Amino acid sequence: MSDRPYVLLSCGMSIDGYLDNATGTRLLLSNDADFDRVDAVRAECDAILVGAGTVRQDNPRLLVRSPARRAERVARGLRPTPLKVTVTGRADLDPAARFFVTGDIDKLVYCATPSLDEARKRLGEVATVVDSGDPVDLELILADLRARGVTRLMVEGGGTIHTQFLTAGLADELQLVIAPFFVGDSRAPRFVGDGRFPWGPDRRAELAQVCQIGDVVLLRYALSERFAPA
Ligand SMILES: NC(=O)c1ccc[n+]([C@@H]2O[C@H](COP(=O)([O-])OP(=O)(O)OC[C@H]3O[C@@H](n4cnc5c(N)ncnc54)[C@H](OP(=O)(O)O)[C@@H]3O)[C@@H](O)[C@H]2O)c1
Repeated sequence: MSDRPYVLLSCGMSIDGYLDNATGTRLLLSNDADFDRVDAVRAECDAILVGAGTVRQDNPRLLVRSPARRAERVARGLRPTPLKVTVTGRADLDPAARFFVTGDIDKLVYCATPSLDEARKRLGEVATVVDSGDPVDLELILADLRARGVTRLMVEGGGTIHTQFLTAGLADELQLVIAPFFVGDSRAPRFVGDGRFPWGPDRRAELAQVCQIGDVVLLRYALSERFAPA
C-alpha cells in the first residue's frame, strides 16, 4: 500500500449531484470560505491531479493562492505550489492552457501509449510526458508519482477521473462539498458516472466529518484504513 501516495479526492457538487452546468461557462459551486479551505488542502499536498477534460473545460491554474501558504511551503523546503498532473488518452491539450503556463513547478502529463508521440510533440516544451500504458493504468501513475516523491495527492476531478479512482478502490479520502442549488440538466457532468463502486448498501462508506462552511456543507468520507483525520 505504501507504494502509492495518499489519495484525497476533492469535489464540489450541486444538491442534485452535478459538477458543472452544460452551458460551457464555469459554474461556481463553492463560496469564498470554502475556496480558501481548498487552498489550504492544496498547500498540504505534493501534487494535484485533474483529468484532461477539466484542463480543457475549466482552464484551471491549480496553484496555492495564499502568499502565506506559499511562503510556509518554501520554509518547509518545498516548492511554493504542488506539482501539477493530468491524464489524457488523446493528447488534445493546449500548451498555452493555464495548467501549463502558470506556476514555477513541474507539470506531468500521463498519456496513453498510442498518443505519446503526439503528446510529446505538443507538450514536450511545457511538461514531462509519461507513458502510462494502453489503456492508461492508474496504479502505474500512482506508483510513478510515488517514485517522484509524491506522498500526498489531491485529485480535483472531473467526474471521469473521480469515477475511476473510486471504482478502482484507489482513494483514501473524499472531501465532498454540496452547494445549495440544483442544476437540473442531465446534459451537465455528474460527480461520478456508472461503475461498480466498493461502497453500496451492504458496505457503507465511513462518514468521518460534517462541517458547515457558510451556505455549503463539507462531507469528509474515510475510504480506506489509511484515512488520516488531521
Ligand atoms: N465541481 C468540481 O469540483 C469540479 C472539479 C473538476 C472538474 N469539474 C467539471 O467536470 C467537468 C469535466 O469532467 P469530465 O469527466 O468531462 O473530465 P475529466 O474527468 O476532467 O477528464 C476526462 C478526460 O481525462 C482523460 N482520462 C481520464 N481517464 C483516463 C484514462 N483512464 N485513460 C486515458 N485518458 C483518461 C481523458 O482525456 P482525453 O479526452 O484527452 O483523452 C478524458 O476525456 C467540467 O465540466 C468541469 O467543470 C468540476
